[in-house]
Amino acid sequence: MSHILVTGGAGFIGANFVLDWLRQEDADGVVNVDKLTYAGNRKSLTAVALDARHVFSQTDICDSAAVTALLKSYRPRAVVHFAAESHVDRSILSPGDFVQTNVVGTFRLLESVLDYWQVLDAPERTAFRFLHVSTDEVFGSLAPADMPFTEASRYQPNSPYSASKAASDHMVRAYHHTYGLPVLITNCANNYGPFQFPEKLIARMITSALAGEPLPVYGDGFQVRDWLYVGDHCAAIREILARGRPGETYNVGGWNEKINLEVVQALCDLLDELRPRTSGSYRSQIAFVDDRPGHDRRYAVDASKLARELGWKPAETFESGLRKTVQWYLQNPEWVKDVLSGEYRNWVGKQYVE
Ligand code: NAD
Ligand code: DAU
Repeated sequence: MSHILVTGGAGFIGANFVLDWLRQEDADGVVNVDKLTYAGNRKSLTAVALDARHVFSQTDICDSAAVTALLKSYRPRAVVHFAAESHVDRSILSPGDFVQTNVVGTFRLLESVLDYWQVLDAPERTAFRFLHVSTDEVFGSLAPADMPFTEASRYQPNSPYSASKAASDHMVRAYHHTYGLPVLITNCANNYGPFQFPEKLIARMITSALAGEPLPVYGDGFQVRDWLYVGDHCAAIREILARGRPGETYNVGGWNEKINLEVVQALCDLLDELRPRTSGSYRSQIAFVDDRPGHDRRYAVDASKLARELGWKPAETFESGLRKTVQWYLQNPEWVKDVLSGEYRNWVGKQYVE
């Protein structure tokens, strides 16, 4: 069986990608390489627990010997690289972890993949792809009247997280330019949807609202983010992997700029409708708190290259995606409970290869 190797496939976007990938007809098998940090959750992969096409390996991308052994055993036709430390607030508290995984880890992965790729047969070498999943945050912060980020926007990362992702983008680009490795880079806007760890805005607000806890809005709450439903991001990655041009970068976004406070209020209103309380609106839990240091004011993504070249556009509107997301969290209280209690870290599925 032909395989792709996915890094970080027990995380939020990676797990959604693996689940969506294996729902396709004639999908290649997936070798899922994940260190299982606090953000990695095997329970998100329960739906493929008995699927022989899914092989899980608890492996750090910094462990070149282990990654090389997996490449040799499974001979993947592509690598899709999600693994990263991904939360801006954590990067402010512990930037070293971000340098280690996002910069050193990506470099080590590139080294292993390059060694593997260089000895493939000519047709396999031509067909191979290394797709690096990155973020719009590498472009910095926009003023209210600025045009959205394009692929040509200047890199101006402002947080340790975005600086580490920018560094990894540059390494990936350099491996194409210097060694010819057929890479693709995606720079995506804020994702939301099922299986998101409740440290990120939307997941945190839903889970805190249901728990009766304060909903902490940083600063004045007027920062702007461009939101994309995770299934649309996964679909974009599949298109780019299949038909993107090696060496190119593609911006991925939802054309959905929203003010944070409006997002939080919309979530409260959806919960009022879907899980009403007798004590009044969830909006009463909104609490303004100190701002994030160095908080980027606005992100917005121009995804027209992806639409023009590959015909991709998001299937969900913000309204439909947000409703699906709230419904998912309401319908999956066990997943939420395990994540909030930390129990998910003790879960070991019998099906997984260590
Ligand atoms: P996440 O934090 O939910 O998941 C990251 C996954 O990577 C986890 O399963 C974790 O265990 C794994 N991991 C971390 N360090 C590792 C290591 N050293 N070796 C192997 N596995 C490791 O992140 P996410 O939100 O799913 O983001 C996935 C990717 O997409 C990241 O590269 C991120 O920068 C990028 N991205 C995220 C968003 C977003 O809104 N979440 C938007 C654009 C781009
Ligand atoms: O833009 C893409 C990026 O989006 C990804 O690369 C990152 O991995 C992902 O974490 C995300 O970064 P943000 O910092 O934009 O996401 P976060 O969900 O942490 O915050 C979204 C906005 O909401 C931001 O302006 C901070 C604010 N916020 C966040 C939290 C968690 C709050 O006001 N309160 C909160 O409790």
